[in-house]
Amino acid sequence: MKKSSFQINLPWWKVLQNSRALAHNPIPFHRQWFQTYGNTLGIKFINGARVMLTRDPEVIMHVLRKNHRNYHKSDVTTYGLGEYIGYGLLTLNGQEWKKDRRLLQPGFYKKRIEHLYNTTIPKTVQKKLDEIPLDTTIDIKPYMNELAFEVVTNALFDIQIEAKVLSEIRIIIDEIQLFFVKEVRQPQWNLVRKLSGQKKQALALVARIRELMNGFIEARIASDSPHNDLLDLMLQSRYEDGSPMERHRIIDELIILIVAGHETTANALSFMIHYLAKNPEIVDQLHREIQPLEASDLSPYEQLSQIKYGQAVVQETLRKCPPAWIVDRKALTDDSIGDLHIPKNALIGLSIYELHHNPEFWEEPELFKPERFLSSPPPVYIPFGSGPRMCIGNHFALFEMVEILRQMVLRFRWETPQEQLEETALITLQPTSVKVYMTHA
Ligand code: HEM
Repeated sequence: MKKSSFQINLPWWKVLQNSRALAHNPIPFHRQWFQTYGNTLGIKFINGARVMLTRDPEVIMHVLRKNHRNYHKSDVTTYGLGEYIGYGLLTLNGQEWKKDRRLLQPGFYKKRIEHLYNTTIPKTVQKKLDEIPLDTTIDIKPYMNELAFEVVTNALFDIQIEAKVLSEIRIIIDEIQLFFVKEVRQPQWNLVRKLSGQKKQALALVARIRELMNGFIEARIASDSPHNDLLDLMLQSRYEDGSPMERHRIIDELIILIVAGHETTANALSFMIHYLAKNPEIVDQLHREIQPLEASDLSPYEQLSQIKYGQAVVQETLRKCPPAWIVDRKALTDDSIGDLHIPKNALIGLSIYELHHNPEFWEEPELFKPERFLSSPPPVYIPFGSGPRMCIGNHFALFEMVEILRQMVLRFRWETPQEQLEETALITLQPTSVKVYMTHA
């Protein structure tokens, strides 16, 4: 049988020629290249590195599901990101990843999520919404960032953390992520960053956040009372061989859950607020759905389950603006899908954004139309990824967004002076700013 070769259809110099603009937002370039060269792009760089970028659903499902064992997270994710946020669910591969996934999965079972949404989370949301200034134009993005950050720390640590400490953790995490993005997007300056001491400073921040996490663990071990949170789960659970999680791994997983769980949700919330400001009739419809539930006997969690149109608004936001707009993998061995050959070590980018904007699957994909989610979405809808490495926090995030939507619709009305949002696609897809003018409902 003749072995098919790697198909190079995008010249490497086209990528290099646009490297500056690509560093800011690669999405428009991807779109243009897909339209010109087809649904799967193959690039061979002069150093021999082979990169594939695809929006083909068959290839995406093959990599994420059908033959997922042949694909690990890319080295940039495992070692590059791992150097800063640690080695855990988001960055590990193979057996090491599987062990932690099994151990942490129960922390995201329905019972736990239900408990969180019946107790702490609505109060945190209320407290953070109280801080939003009304009757003036603001950028809502930093408020959503803080809100999502506090919600995820609620799930990890069922304790009152001093506001000063919380803010230190949040600022460090944001700074570390920013530094990592610079390293990936402008590698030509990495030596300068190292020599000038910037890298050392970033690693000092990593050491500081690890010290803070260690402090939480020490305090928990010293306390007698049980806490129904993810930290207790990590301390008490045992791997299949009976061994506990090592301290450094607990710290890794805590940081990873904060990183994975807050910026994605914050970006989605900011996008959602913009599209609602643009579509007041959707807010009216949400109000008609949410207001009557206030008088019901349902628990807060059950109420959220009833907010079907609200769920559709959240889903449509995650379709149109998927915060995890691309996921990457590395091929462990040669593989093929029909005529397409994927060589060992190829780096593969799977574009969730393009799947969600393909007119073959979505009518008028550029419009914000929550109604499309009142019936089952097509299988190309994968804002949380697909296969065994699908987002562990997907239900948590959906409920979080609906809860925030519920409280905002009951409390506020808002409009925006922005005609269109400017987007940047760094690790996550995000709006550069979301200007809103909020008033009491
Ligand atoms: C709207 C919000 C969110 C979006 C769009 C999102 C999206 C994703 C996607 C696409 C992946 C798969 C990445 C891949 O296949 O390479 C992922 C993985 C992950 N997410 Fe989320 N996520 C969100 C919220 C959360 C939350 C709230 C948490 C935790 C509290 C979380 C924790 C994780 C973790 C730990 C992984 C790695 C899972 C593994 O590989 O086992 N995410 N997320």
